[in-house]
Amino acid sequence: MEYKVCKSEEVPDNSMKVISIQGSNILVCRSNNQLFALDNSCPHRGASLSKGETKGTKIICYMHDFEYDLISGKLLHIPSKWNDQNPNWKKSDNLLLFQISEKNGQIYIQL
Ligand code: FES
Repeated sequence: MEYKVCKSEEVPDNSMKVISIQGSNILVCRSNNQLFALDNSCPHRGASLSKGETKGTKIICYMHDFEYDLISGKLLHIPSKWNDQNPNWKKSDNLLLFQISEKNGQIYIQL
């Protein structure tokens, strides 16, 4: 189902916005002029990804600095400061990504 999310101008380049739809917090971000939509909850331990930062097609969670790919949703990198952590603690699902599009100055996502 397609939802109208906000106006394009509300998400300028290199910015993020959290939108609540059907009880889910969706993070809409534009990074290097590309739009992405994903669940705002980090798949590692649930931190708010809106407090992190994007770098091109990557997003870095502020809580433990895990780095995820905004295109595939996959975990790309765990900082070496966590090398000694229990492997179970380091496990993470992928990002939950949603389709996003832009038409006539409006942003839409598919849920
Ligand atoms: S909660 Fe996001 S990296 Fe751990």
